[in-house]
Amino acid sequence: MTTEGASAGDPAGGGAAAWIDAELETLRDQHLMRQTTARPGAGGKLTEGSIELLNFSSNDYLNLSRDTRLIEAANAAAARFGAGATASRLVAGTLPCHDELEQRLATHKGHPAALLFGSGFLANIGTIPALIGRDDHAFADRLVHASIIDGVRLSGARLHRFHHNDVDHLSDLLAAAPLRARKLVLTESVFSMDGDMAPLDQITDTAERFNAMILVDEAHAGGVFGPHGAGRIAELGLADRVHIGMGTLSKALGGYGGFVTCSSPIRELLVNRARAFIYTTGLPPAAVAAGSAALDILEQDPGLGPTLLERCRVFRLALHARGIDTSHSASQIVPVLIGESQAAIATAEALQQHNLLAVAMRPPTVPEGTARLRLSVTLAHTPDDLTRAADLVADCATAAVAT
Ligand SMILES: Cc1ncc(COP(=O)(O)O)c(C=O)c1O
Repeated sequence: MTTEGASAGDPAGGGAAAWIDAELETLRDQHLMRQTTARPGAGGKLTEGSIELLNFSSNDYLNLSRDTRLIEAANAAAARFGAGATASRLVAGTLPCHDELEQRLATHKGHPAALLFGSGFLANIGTIPALIGRDDHAFADRLVHASIIDGVRLSGARLHRFHHNDVDHLSDLLAAAPLRARKLVLTESVFSMDGDMAPLDQITDTAERFNAMILVDEAHAGGVFGPHGAGRIAELGLADRVHIGMGTLSKALGGYGGFVTCSSPIRELLVNRARAFIYTTGLPPAAVAAGSAALDILEQDPGLGPTLLERCRVFRLALHARGIDTSHSASQIVPVLIGESQAAIATAEALQQHNLLAVAMRPPTVPEGTARLRLSVTLAHTPDDLTRAADLVADCATAAVAT
């Protein structure tokens, strides 16, 4: 859709402006327009002047982002090593703290080795194309995160999507793929938008039957599930059978950065092949130190995840008692299914009037017709906060759907 005389690629041309305006108009018409909104801080509870906001849209599950132990460790690392790593890890951007954190993450997760990436997104889009290529086949749960899909797209491998958590469908797809092709099965262990769990043991059995590799994204399981928050791979004793565990320092661990844990040969392969590792600057020392301080806390206090999960169980029961559908959530991520994007936005706006932040999730982040509030419960939310929140959510969701 270009205007006569101007090319679509011409930054100054009317043609470019016209198609961009049209695209934005479509998003507005469909209630799908997104925007960034500055908040007074991060985490589960925010203060704005004298007002306290309950924030159900942060992934700061263990309330560590404001923990003084992380902040002091980050400050000390910045003072000692500088504000940035200043080069790619393979050039001059590896510091002792990178090596130490990788060793600790490997031990924590029960894998022989680990590799840090700039973020969880980079970990997925870096790792997947290093493992599979044009002649290979990837098998991903329908609901996996965009970074997994983008990783497969970058790899050039053929992508097969299996119905959510449907091991029989996965098995059928694997059986139909060429016997000799390299195969990679991809799932999350706790799903980011639905808060439900993958049947990891069955998925692992199935992948093994077809001689496929497995990558499990533990972005939302890390810190919360498993012994000392080591995740669901560790909880189910699958570290010896799952080839790659992907994780992030940016959610329950309160800081920033991503990583994978795996065997030593896979780590070596990634160091040599993962473009999102090779061609980017190493993680800043402050982020590495914050990650390490978060691991200290997990080691010292094994009760953080169980406490959070128990509060979530009670919270879900309170919502159910008010007739709210939380689907198959069994984690700290509690979806409140609304349906239409407009009703989800109206619910979020009504909640904001009561100082409760719960951002509406709309397509394409979630499937068409399943717009929702995605409530992230954190340890900043007390049992009383959660009782009050359950009532408010039920009142506002019921009113929005009725209008
Ligand atoms: C399942 C999943 N994987 C990967 C990521 C990316 O992690 P990060 O935020 O560290 O880039 C996210 C973040 O939203 C996620 O939900």
